[in-house]
Amino acid sequence: MSRTRQVDIEPADGVLGAVVSGMDLRDALDDDALLATIKDAWAGHLVLEWRDQELSVEEHLALGRRFGDLEDMGHVATADGMPREVLVIENDPAKNESTAPPPDYLRGFQNKYVQWHSDQSYRPVPPMGSLFVQREGPVEGGATLFCSMYAAFEALDDDTKAKIAGREAIHDPSLNSANVLREGAIPPADVSQGKGPRHPLVRRHPVTGRAALYLGRRPYAYVCDYPVTESEVLLDTLWKHATDTRFVWQRRDNPPGTVLLWDNRCVMHARTELAASARRVAHRVQIAGEPPVMA
Ligand code: OGA
Ligand code: MN
Repeated sequence: MSRTRQVDIEPADGVLGAVVSGMDLRDALDDDALLATIKDAWAGHLVLEWRDQELSVEEHLALGRRFGDLEDMGHVATADGMPREVLVIENDPAKNESTAPPPDYLRGFQNKYVQWHSDQSYRPVPPMGSLFVQREGPVEGGATLFCSMYAAFEALDDDTKAKIAGREAIHDPSLNSANVLREGAIPPADVSQGKGPRHPLVRRHPVTGRAALYLGRRPYAYVCDYPVTESEVLLDTLWKHATDTRFVWQRRDNPPGTVLLWDNRCVMHARTELAASARRVAHRVQIAGEPPVMA
């Protein structure tokens, strides 16, 4: 029995994002027409948001699998009693203060600002999408923001487009998205010798055919075959440009029950900080992707 009524897809102000209402996401588990509606809207708006959803952990996984294979998140963190495909993003003030937080507690983000990034671009085959479910809090702060890398690419001046045409960049894995060094990671002394995979700076989206800037994360990045100083200047220019407010969906909050579906191939995301005392718990799964293709 369907709980979905009149589906409405309301585009956000600006160049990306839409809020879907009148839909119960549990219906998309077995309704192919509804799934097709979602996929269509996703390709057009790059990020979709739902509110007041009631997905169990199992339903979250099953919904993610409607878009592709889910990745094992065990290389980042596993959480007690959670399937390995679920990444738990948690700020728990009690655990932050503990000198011996449980081993499954991902201390990295805590209440920090999460820097702009595209998920796990430091792997040879990065995830195509991420499906995020806000489980608890916060009342203020901790809103996920998005920027369109199609719009950012299209708005580049011709000179910059020429500088990045046919180029690749190294995507370094040393820091997490809150700029915290990962356990055991050793950042490269010389970014041009970094060990991360090389990906095209401009990639062709396999579904829409559009070209998108692909930056990953800023720290220890390197544009191949340029002197390091030139690469640094170019990257600073590209990052400042891509995260300019005109390409950003400036969301205000993530109340519990919020579900976000974003496309790592053509958007970056960030998160506003929150009070150290604010408890916030989110779950998310990653949908497997394909090797980026040069545009
Ligand atoms: C993520 C992420 C942002 C947030 O789930 O990949 O960057 O709002 N999270 O927690
Ligand atoms: Mn992320």
